[in-house]
Amino acid sequence: MTTPRLFSGMQPSADSLHFGNYAGALIQWIEMQSTHDAVFCVVDLHAITVPQDPQALAATTRKTAAQYIACGIDPQKSTLFVQSHVPAHSELAWILNTVTSFGEASRMTQFKDKSQKQGSDNATVGLFTYPILQAADILLYDATVVPVGEDQRQHIELTRNISERFNQRFGDTFVVPEVKIMDAAAKIYDLQNPESKMSKSGESPQGILWLLDEPAVITKKVKSAVTDTDTDIRFDAENKPGVSNLLTLASLATGKSVPALEKEFQGSGYGNLKSTVAEAVVELLEPIRTTTHELLADPAELDRILAAGASKAEAIADTTLAKVHEAVGLLPRA
Ligand code: TRP
Repeated sequence: MTTPRLFSGMQPSADSLHFGNYAGALIQWIEMQSTHDAVFCVVDLHAITVPQDPQALAATTRKTAAQYIACGIDPQKSTLFVQSHVPAHSELAWILNTVTSFGEASRMTQFKDKSQKQGSDNATVGLFTYPILQAADILLYDATVVPVGEDQRQHIELTRNISERFNQRFGDTFVVPEVKIMDAAAKIYDLQNPESKMSKSGESPQGILWLLDEPAVITKKVKSAVTDTDTDIRFDAENKPGVSNLLTLASLATGKSVPALEKEFQGSGYGNLKSTVAEAVVELLEPIRTTTHELLADPAELDRILAAGASKAEAIADTTLAKVHEAVGLLPRA
């Protein structure tokens, strides 16, 4: 039996990942490395579909990759690379543009949301074809498993439709991928506004735990987390979102189950729970922060790791792209 191939991508869109990224995606990707042939891509070409500061983009790309490695993505075992280093992504995206209908691309809800935010007339064509580039990412690697958050489901459905249509029209070329929605049990909420998901665009900077936050900063944020007016420590996402979020954080950081933590903290105050969460999160993030800074202190070595990843990726991607050219009838270069 061959190991199933997994593909997933992450945008280099902030200097530091936050705890929501870690709990919602990374932990699962890290685990899946042992059961899958995993390919992870820092999708810088996707990032530029909205304005980016050119001075910052390359640095953010490195920082993102460094954090993934520090968290446990193993560039030896898996393939970790930067999207723009493998030109086949852009090349296949163009070809897939020609088998995607305007109508189906127009139905992508993420495009509708994002373009509305910018004023629809100013949204770029790149933002419109974003999901088609994403389809190219996946299809180049014959990935069968694509672990993503719920917000990406429609893009993976589109990828399935495009690949099925292509295969029908041009003969069997692509592996049709399955979507794997990642476990929502580990959803992390904003500490100041525990009814919203932790997100880099959160309203209060105090509500977001960045993976690279210094210990004192983490402690301060956890201790000022919004809770509620009673004193009960139990998991009840609806009535006690703040306390429930702290219990989820505690569980992730200590490895103890939420029911075990409820028992342990029964009758003890919120202050006590917060101290425990703060300590556990600091302890969990300490090696991640240190390793990230070590990796970033030697950019030449980090770039070598990413170049090696790009070479591994390119070998697979170029083979697929050649098959696609042949299927479509493009004249091979002599
Ligand atoms: N659009 C994805 C996101 O915002 C990132 C992404 C790009 C991706 N290409 C991908 C995810 C391919 C999975 C597979 O989260």
